[in-house]
Amino acid sequence: MTIAIILGTRPEIIKMAPAIRECQRRGLDYSIIHTGQHYSYQMDRIFFEQLELPQPDHNLDVGSGNHGEQTGRILADLEAVLMAERPDVVLVQGDTNTVMAGALAASKLQIKVGHVEAGLRSYDRSMPEEINRVVADHVSDYCFAPTEISKANLLKEGIAEEKIHVTGNTIVDSVYQNLEIAMRKVNILADLGLEPKGYFLVTSHRQENVDNKERLGEIIRGLGMVKSEFGLPMVFPVHPRTRKMVESFGFELDGIRAIEPLGFLEFLQLEAGARLALTDSGGVQEETCILGVPCVTLRDNTERPETLDVGANVLAGADALRMVDRAKRIMLQGNEWENPFGDGKAGKCIIEHLTAGWR
Ligand code: UD1
Ligand code: UDP
Repeated sequence: MTIAIILGTRPEIIKMAPAIRECQRRGLDYSIIHTGQHYSYQMDRIFFEQLELPQPDHNLDVGSGNHGEQTGRILADLEAVLMAERPDVVLVQGDTNTVMAGALAASKLQIKVGHVEAGLRSYDRSMPEEINRVVADHVSDYCFAPTEISKANLLKEGIAEEKIHVTGNTIVDSVYQNLEIAMRKVNILADLGLEPKGYFLVTSHRQENVDNKERLGEIIRGLGMVKSEFGLPMVFPVHPRTRKMVESFGFELDGIRAIEPLGFLEFLQLEAGARLALTDSGGVQEETCILGVPCVTLRDNTERPETLDVGANVLAGADALRMVDRAKRIMLQGNEWENPFGDGKAGKCIIEHLTAGWR
């Protein structure tokens, strides 16, 4: 069987890495198709280098653009590559425009589609990612759900049970595989002059937060308030979308250590050492939960309710007072919760399932 692995953004590279490694380990016939949705060195190449992934066989170089433009370009260009390659199965991961376009292009060509991280739902259609998830799940032949909650979401939408396989989330594989490497290879706390458990980590890039002047302004105000309440340094590796919007709205990140986006090894180490994370990232909600670091999510909902259920995460929306209150509350709680995202063998489980079906 031949597998085409489609990816395009930072989190897809990180979360697809365990499946790629498993294809390599088994000597499978696979190819990597990069859409080029992310392209800056710090959002793309650095992850191939740090995770020692093979170079993509194709790069569509679609770049940035409005949703229709970007999705349309990926669809058209992928169709051409898939028609030429004719893989038996296409794998996509997550909820980006790359994922929706990849799943759609393959399914229209009658190529089987496997969706890694299927069944996540925020039930908030104002998020572009929610639309991408729903479309990808409904055209997929294999829905690799990370948890029983995500499986139940798919069943509720009428997706046949035989298409759904609970595998755990490949982010656990990535964290386990790279944390120790990070501890050996990088020393970001010393580089930034930070003490373990003596700083807060911030990320924010959700379109509905950072493209909205009021919400972004309120988040920045809240960060300032959290910082003065606890008197700890705050480190913020800034996503390029966010940097662009902070500049265009004329905001200042006063008192916050705003730095360039980090490589995965540096970021993982920074997460593991943080006292608390404040974020609107999906992956950061998961990783902090896995690493035993409390998290305040700068959103009104989450498609990762497992993190709330175990007590690792709380929602604060884009509301400065709630950010301070939630930070106080979650830091008073212990951090002895169990990781709800599996045992770190999701990549293996996914590839095992795909190949077993082919025998
Ligand atoms: C995308 C995904 C989002 C995911 C995020 C991961 C969609 C709809 N959104 O959001 O779900 O959480 O990736 O980080 O698919 N830019 C650069 N360099 C890059 C990439 C982007 O400078 O390598 C800048 C450009 O100004 C671009 C903006 O960031 O316009 C947004 O990029 P885009 O890929 O459209 O969305 P993300 O916010 O990255
Ligand atoms: N990440 C990283 N460097 C950074 C910020 C994040 O390597 O400066 C990693 C992080 O460890 C996680 C992933 O990027 O694995 C999350 O990506 P992002 O927040 O961009 O997207 P989301 O998960 O929200 O889709």
